[in-house]
Amino acid sequence: MPTRRHFLGHLGMAPLFPSLIEPFTQAAPPEGDPDSIARNESYWREIQSAFTVDRSLIHLNNGGVCPTPQCVQRVIEDHQSYAYNVPFYMHRRTLKPQWERVRKGIAHAFGCSSEEIALTRNTSEGMETCQMGIDLEAGDEIVTTDQDYPRMLNTWNQRIQRDRIALKQIPLPVPMENTESLLDAFRAHITPRTRLIMVCHMVDLTGQLLPVKEIAMLGKEHGIPVLVDGAQTFGQIDFTYEDLQCDFFATSLHKWLMGPPGTGFLFVKQPHISSLWPLMPAEEELKADIRKFEDVGTQSMSRFIAISEALAFHNRIGIAHKEARLRYLRQCWQDELIPLDRIRLHTSTHSAFSASLATFEIEGIDSTLLRDYLWNTHRIVVRPINHPAVQGIRVSPGLQTTLRELSQFTDVIKHVIQFGIPS
Ligand SMILES: Cc1ncc(COP(=O)(O)O)c(C=O)c1O
Repeated sequence: MPTRRHFLGHLGMAPLFPSLIEPFTQAAPPEGDPDSIARNESYWREIQSAFTVDRSLIHLNNGGVCPTPQCVQRVIEDHQSYAYNVPFYMHRRTLKPQWERVRKGIAHAFGCSSEEIALTRNTSEGMETCQMGIDLEAGDEIVTTDQDYPRMLNTWNQRIQRDRIALKQIPLPVPMENTESLLDAFRAHITPRTRLIMVCHMVDLTGQLLPVKEIAMLGKEHGIPVLVDGAQTFGQIDFTYEDLQCDFFATSLHKWLMGPPGTGFLFVKQPHISSLWPLMPAEEELKADIRKFEDVGTQSMSRFIAISEALAFHNRIGIAHKEARLRYLRQCWQDELIPLDRIRLHTSTHSAFSASLATFEIEGIDSTLLRDYLWNTHRIVVRPINHPAVQGIRVSPGLQTTLRELSQFTDVIKHVIQFGIPS
């Protein structure tokens, strides 16, 4: 039976370094629909073994950063040691063609032209490229929500101070399950001075999914471009560009793609490329070229090249299976805790409005104290949420998470509900 390496060899595209993916995921996902595969523990045990995570702690903050499978770690290390040993310009010459292959792989997964994808360090860099790169004059307005990621709000604050623009923030209900009233709120905030709409695909505070396509359509109606913060969705849920139709989209690949830390991509719809200024000015001849957003001087390329391995790992499992498994893991802890007194879930249970991230609160228990107790006493990692609109802890299992780890977590929470946090 031909292997992946034989296949690439036939295409004249043999990888520079061997891949470890075959030993880990030799077996194809089992037969069946994604929901039944999501419950097939022997399949997921094989996937769990692809990770080298420290099992003395329970990582339930995968929305922060997911672990990188061993096959990806190896490719980063191999490319990095190659880079240490040859002059940089040769390293660049050899690896640049692989960089273009990564671009094509990402474009294929996102469903756009590879001429619309720039590789970046993370979501923040992609978002800020758009936020800082769009021409704005004093009095111009940006419409967004009250639950965007703080770094993006800081970026607007800087433009408010430097350029005297205005930011309009729509309060999002927690949870938000009424698309029509949200669209009405956006409509009501649009004025002749609105220059951009910015929204999260998934809000990091609660895991709330927002109706990006409908918001993008509203933007189109008014001739206003829409910028989407996709940090939490690429690699976690099954969608392509067709389902969003926005003008700009930025994400990190060290989250749900489980790629190398410090990688991401920015999608810029073709007609916007020439008018968007890069964060670091590039040669004039690159003005209409997506590569102008990557012209950031000398940097290590190894982690970017290893994105190919993360994509291969991701594609081998399949996004539909991955999404179903991640949703199932949420269901497992949620079914244990939600019926209990004093638990308040702040995330919609409707699949159109949420996926695997969810935030809950124990009435009367401070979220930061709970986070500290979970870590200091039980080595369980969660994210505390302290925002005017929502308080609690956010739980986000990953593909490496076992059902046993989830039941250890729910046992501790049940104990806290009964006896409080020991002083
Ligand atoms: C919605 C959202 N946007 C942006 C970011 C920032 O991601 P990064 O630090 O990878 O740039 C995060 C990180 O958790 C996030 O959840």
